[in-house]
Formats: sequence, structure tokens, C-alpha cells
Amino acid sequence: MSIQGPETAAWFDRAYAAMVNGVSSGWRYWGRNETLVLSRGEGGYVYDSDGKRYIDYHCGFGPIILGHGDPTVASAVAEAAAAGTTFAFTQEREVVAAETIKQAVPWVERLRFTNTGTEATMHAVRLARGVTGRDVVLKFEGTYHGAHDYVMYSTPGKPTEAFGSPYRPLPIPMSSGMPDVVTSLIRTLPYNDLEGAQRLFADYGRRIAAVVVEPMLGNAMGIEPVDGFLQGLRDLCDANDAILIFDEVKTGFRIAVGGAAEAYGVVPDLAAFAKALGNGVPVAAIAGRGPVLDGWAKGGIVQAGTYSGNGIAVAAAQATVTKLMTGEPMARLDRVGHALMEGTAKILAEHGVAATVQGRPAMFGFYFGAGTPHDYRGVAAHDEELYEKLVMGMIRRGVMPSPDALEPWFLCAAHSDEDVATTLQVFEEALVEALG
Ligand SMILES: Cc1ncc(COP(=O)(O)O)c(C=O)c1O
Repeated sequence: MSIQGPETAAWFDRAYAAMVNGVSSGWRYWGRNETLVLSRGEGGYVYDSDGKRYIDYHCGFGPIILGHGDPTVASAVAEAAAAGTTFAFTQEREVVAAETIKQAVPWVERLRFTNTGTEATMHAVRLARGVTGRDVVLKFEGTYHGAHDYVMYSTPGKPTEAFGSPYRPLPIPMSSGMPDVVTSLIRTLPYNDLEGAQRLFADYGRRIAAVVVEPMLGNAMGIEPVDGFLQGLRDLCDANDAILIFDEVKTGFRIAVGGAAEAYGVVPDLAAFAKALGNGVPVAAIAGRGPVLDGWAKGGIVQAGTYSGNGIAVAAAQATVTKLMTGEPMARLDRVGHALMEGTAKILAEHGVAATVQGRPAMFGFYFGAGTPHDYRGVAAHDEELYEKLVMGMIRRGVMPSPDALEPWFLCAAHSDEDVATTLQVFEEALVEALG
């Protein structure tokens, strides 16, 4: 049974005729009769073209932290749009937003704005290579750092059988069109494998420019770092003059106002922020500390972008971060997220489903299977069929997480206690139906 109502189906027909597969980003295509078209979002809800309301746990794959159409962000953006947005000069709003981010994330000394997570990680990697004069980058299986070629290897969604031995993993490109030569500059390891990283540094230490890591696996079920993993990477980078890059595109301004560095107590050299920074408006930042940023200051390492720091983007960042810094949105996310994590775990246990609910209240994932995975290889045994049936049943009932279990549930501060109650009721009904 299609999840498209008649108006949604008609809109998707038009979308399909005008846009490739009817979407602007490949992962949004769920199938010819299964892809929704939305008309608007408000708070914690989105509405499809038939006017059907969904409690939204996609939150745009992470950006929506305050709620769809948050009035403070909306009016800041409207004001900035009317004042002219793009000047090819530094603008006052940009300076204020940069200062506010420094306050919110105290380890950050300086930053540059850009527009997307992809641009932010791409520039961070180039900067690290530029300042170290080295080419090799270590990344971890099951992390996704954006759509550029530099680090799009062994990403979530790829079958782990192709990844080779965990002792000497094979970096697997995510896409056709990625040049072979780039593969020779990448090393991959299972997430949380500190011993593997120590071995790799022992072999290649002086060739490694950077370690790039999602501090929490925001693209693989919200798996968290085990004790000592992030600090171990910090120590290895320090000992080998390599750059530690946290990809905070999903964790930043979400799992804590100060992101993963605050949540896990480990500070990187560079971090890429995007998503929740702008509550849905495209804005990103490459932020850092110490001499690495002088790589840009001294010239010769290119970072550029016509729209970087544009008025709309920085107004959204300023409004979002200022609101987050009051502490109220995070307190709410924490309460609602805990209730959902605990409530769903209890329902799963009551129905005899072996499962782990893991992550942080603002962003957590489900693994259906025995044990608890600590890396992406460990999720291979996940009962994908049951999870997908459950979620499709929820979507039909008006509650919308991603049917792909790798993608965590994202909460926003507009989700209410009533939404939690509805979600838990729907979760149980859909689970009973899925279990047949
Ligand atoms: C951890 C992480 N880094 C980078 C990106 C790329 O961000 P964008 O889609 O804004 O280019 C994503 C996107 O989902 C992400 O999850």
C-alpha cells in the first residue's frame, strides 16, 4: 500500500517529470510510489501535500533543532534577506555570529563560514594536508563526511563484507566517478578501534595528515565512542603532529550546545559544523584552534566561496545559537529524548525483541539484534526487515522516523510530551503489526 495520498501522488508525478527521480538529493528517493512530497513544516510536525500531519523525527536529517519555522530564526532571516545578503565583503552580522559561536563552543579560537557540511569537511581536510605537507587521511568505517571525493569511503549503507580484514581494512569508494588515485590516500579502520589506529600510526605516522572522525556515529545508528577512543586519537595526533578533525555536522549544536567536544570532553584541532547551526538554513563553519588556522592566514591554502558568510546564513546561525545558549531548548530535548529512548526500549523488551537503543536524547538509533554494536561492522546482523516494517507502519500512522535504521531519530525542541505519548502508542501498534 502506497504512503502517497492522491494529492501527494499527483505532486510526485510532477516532481518525477521535472527532476531526476523527483528529488534533489539521491537518498530522498524511496521509490516511485513511496516518496512523499511535503508542503510545510511547523514546530515538530511536517505536512504532506494531502495535508496529512506527521510527527517528524527526520528533522531534515539533523538540522532542525529548535523546530520547523522557528519564529525567531524566521524573522532574523527575513530581516537579513531585506538588508541584502551577499556582498563579497565581511559583513557585521557575520562577525556577530562568529563571536556567538565562539561563546557557545569555548574551545574554538577562530572560524570561517561556509555553506554545507560537505564544504566544511572538504576545506578542513585540505587545510590539514596543506599545513602538514602530508597526504594520507584516516577515517572510520560507517562515518559519512559529505559528498566530496576526499573521504567518501566505507560509508554507511555499503556492505561490510567488502571492507576486508578489520586489521587491514580496504577503503571502499561510495560512488562511481571517484578517481582511483584518491583511494591510495585513504586509510580506514573500524570505528572505536584505537589499537588499529595505534598500529596504523606506528606504520605510517609521518605520512598521516589528519584523522577525521564523527565523534558519535551519526550516520550509523548513533553508536557512541567507547571510553578512551577519542582521547586516544587526540594523543596519537599530538604524538605524530597530525590534525584531529571532528566532523560535528550532526553532533554540533545538537548533542550539547558545545557539540561532541563538550559531550565527550575531547577537543579537536579542527571541527566542521553545519546542520543544527542554522536550524535548517544552509550555513556551516570550519572552526579551530592553535596554529593550524594560520595555514589560511598565511595564504597558499585555498578556502573560498561566493556565498560563505552570506547574510541569511549567518542571521540564522546567530538566532539559532543564541536561543540554544539559553539552555531551555536543550533541557526540553533532553527530557523528551530520554522519555522516547526509555519508552521504546521498554516496549521492545515487553514484546521480546532483542534491541539496543543508543545515542543521546537529541539523536539516537535502534539496533535490532543481540548484543550492542560498537562499530559499523557490528550492525550487519541488524534485523532490517523488522525495523523497516515497523517504521513504515509508524509513517502510515503519522509518525515519521527514517525507515533506514542507520539514520538516527532526530528530535527538536518543539517536540512535546504529548508527541512522546502519541509516538510510543504508535510505536507499539506498529511493532505488533510488524511482528505479525
Ligand atoms: C556527519 C556528516 N558530515 C557531513 C555531512 C555533509 O553535510 P551536507 O549534506 O550539508 O553537505 C553530513 C550529511 O549528512 C553528515 O552527516
